[in-house]
Amino acid sequence: MSTIDPAIAVQRLPRHIAIVMDGNGRWAEARHRPRTFGHHAGVQAVRQVVEACIRRSVSTLTLFAFSSENWKRPVSEVSALMDLFMRAMDREVDGLHNNGVRLSFIGDRSAFQSELVERMSRVEMKTAGNERLMLNIAANYGGRWDIVRAARALAQRAAAGEVDPQSIDEASLHAEIALSALPEPDLFIRTGGEQRISNFLLWQIAYSELWFTEVLWPDFDADCLDQALHAYAQRERRFGRTGAQLRSAS
Ligand code: IPE
Ligand code: IPE
Ligand code: MG
Repeated sequence: MSTIDPAIAVQRLPRHIAIVMDGNGRWAEARHRPRTFGHHAGVQAVRQVVEACIRRSVSTLTLFAFSSENWKRPVSEVSALMDLFMRAMDREVDGLHNNGVRLSFIGDRSAFQSELVERMSRVEMKTAGNERLMLNIAANYGGRWDIVRAARALAQRAAAGEVDPQSIDEASLHAEIALSALPEPDLFIRTGGEQRISNFLLWQIAYSELWFTEVLWPDFDADCLDQALHAYAQRERRFGRTGAQLRSAS
């Protein structure tokens, strides 16, 4: 089991971690196996990271499982992924529930088969009372879709005369955005070596600390998470202020 430096004070730990779980395909290709083998292997990395977050008292974890652009992949890979989501949910839900995990899904569900949508709702209802870890799974999610959806909701309210367009501000848009009830991601992790956002949370990561690793997602474990937590603990989050201002405030 991994150990965390006890010197990392609680206030230096992120409350919310968002992860782009990338590299499953390359992990499988390196083993001369089909890409879907890598997606299967990625499920156990999810399990390890969920458990590690619980041990580290990280309260919210948001995982990018399927982007709005991933439909462009070969049909066989997309359907294998949908199948995997269903099986993984059936298999993992009891364990997650017993560990106090509250599950929630963000993204456009309308494109999914009804079987999958029903499972998502069922899992959300079953775990709704849990408080140890809030686990958000982004499925058919796109950051731009999220912002457009929020803008549309505000426009509809303005057209109905419920909101004065002049009063629309960051807070009102924020309120319509996914995850608005949760603290914003403090730490954004991407595995697999690419250093890009790929249309994951756009609004929400305005001030997140970014951390990239070459490690492919199926190899990501509690030790890798600890490396990210150590790096995060060294960062000075200034939010526009000067370093001197921060030091004089503490
Ligand atoms: C991430 O791994 C999982 C999904 C996008 C569903 P990839 O499948 O993108 O793996 P690489 O990037 O091709 O190695
Ligand atoms: C981002 O990974 C989406 C998920 C991890 C679910 P991609 O592999 O789809 O991203 P790109 O295509 O390399 O930008
Ligand atoms: Mg990828």
